[in-house]
Amino acid sequence: MSMSIKFRSRENIPMEMHKVRMVQKVNLLPVDERVKSALEGGCNTFLLKNRDVFLDMLTDSGVNAMSQEQYAAMMNVDDAYAGSETFYRLERVIKEVFGTEYFLPTHQGRACENIICKTFVKPGQTVLMNYHFTTTKAHIEQNGGDVVEIVKREGLEVNSDLPFKGDMDIDLLKKEIAERGADKIAFVRVEAGTNLIGGQPVSVANMRETVKVAKEHGILTVFDASLLSDNLYFIKTREKEFANKSLNEITLELGKLFDITYFSARKLGCARGGGILMNREDLYLAMQALVPLYEGFLTYGGMSVREMEALAVGLLEGLDMNVIEQTPIFVKALCDELIKNNVPIVTPSGGLGCHVNAMAFCDHLPLEEYRSGALTAAFYIASGVRGMERGTLSESREADGSERFAEMELMRLAVPKRVFTLSQMKYVADRLTWLYENRHLIGGLRFTFEPKILRFFFGKLEPTSDWPQKLAAKFKADFGDSL
Ligand SMILES: Cc1ncc(COP(=O)(O)O)c(C=O)c1O
Repeated sequence: MSMSIKFRSRENIPMEMHKVRMVQKVNLLPVDERVKSALEGGCNTFLLKNRDVFLDMLTDSGVNAMSQEQYAAMMNVDDAYAGSETFYRLERVIKEVFGTEYFLPTHQGRACENIICKTFVKPGQTVLMNYHFTTTKAHIEQNGGDVVEIVKREGLEVNSDLPFKGDMDIDLLKKEIAERGADKIAFVRVEAGTNLIGGQPVSVANMRETVKVAKEHGILTVFDASLLSDNLYFIKTREKEFANKSLNEITLELGKLFDITYFSARKLGCARGGGILMNREDLYLAMQALVPLYEGFLTYGGMSVREMEALAVGLLEGLDMNVIEQTPIFVKALCDELIKNNVPIVTPSGGLGCHVNAMAFCDHLPLEEYRSGALTAAFYIASGVRGMERGTLSESREADGSERFAEMELMRLAVPKRVFTLSQMKYVADRLTWLYENRHLIGGLRFTFEPKILRFFFGKLEPTSDWPQKLAAKFKADFGDSL
């Protein structure tokens, strides 16, 4: 394990347990051109062209570094519409990793959500969960259901000492079931590594409790394992019972625990695709017909055979601590630097990326002017780094058209697996610290085009004043001709 490599100085330096043998050139535009790109992209980092981005920290989804073994596997495929050997190879690996009997392939994580929600969510029903993910909630609502979040109170506190901030509040779970009635609950969903509240992990002990309560009431349990890799790292390092268990043993326990497990293979397994896993034949048969309808035949589900081979290798590599620790230890290095500089971030540092607390960073802005959206646009201007808004813009409006303010206003700086170097992390911390020192220059945003569903993906906004130009002027005054 790299963290067991000690330096003479006793400094904690995250060590890369891989070497870089293929690279991609990146480009850092001058600050005035960054202002232009930000405005052209409707101040929405989803709409930036990647050629205008220096470090792409939008997401880890589909952009993790792949190993040479994954690339090699992509050359050895069985390309068939039906019954390809590649599918059976992947099915065998999934059985080995999760211990599950049945596997439905899909083209990505939200496709699993579409199939699960179409099958199990009836109008008027509720899905109880630790915390929602954007696409999950959209699919539940599209099917006439709603979402109730019952993460522990500390999960919504920006700074807390709780090692598993993604844990479910079990008392609240029991209360919600008692008040609503088990028949009004479509399923209970646990999301590993809760994306929207800072990549915070869930403990196995809490998952066991959650499933026990749901089972007592005959309620279906669903596990979103998209962010399992980081969550496994935290189970292994923070949950005593598992310190000496292998990553495979932990994953096998989780595969057995839940009725249905699904994942985005753009995240888990460092490829591109998705899958729904289960042990019960009745659940498999209930969802099976939707795969050919929305995804593709049952033995590819919208994935290319090359990605399926890469996924099979990636899932097995994800059982190696040297592989899975790379993101959390880099996230921690970035977070530690920001904490040292008093920049407000979510703590303890979790998986997936560094989560900057825009609520505090931009506390001079009214919530209606989208604090995390404004911070994300401003940070692109200050650094060429593309983060993602994870706050009110990522919510949808209430039925009456009023704004639904997010509980947390975050800018997420994702750290895709094995992609960035430590000097790049230092650059991110440097520019973000500068922006924090000049935060009064960040102004608000307002919509010029607002889609009804998942508006954050392609909605367009404009600054409420000429603050981007003023921010760029200050950048030039402080950094001279530096990019
Ligand atoms: C927790 C979680 N669930 C589901 C998804 C959806 O997966 P995909 O992007 O592959 O559709 C994501 C993607 O970011 C995620 O983080």
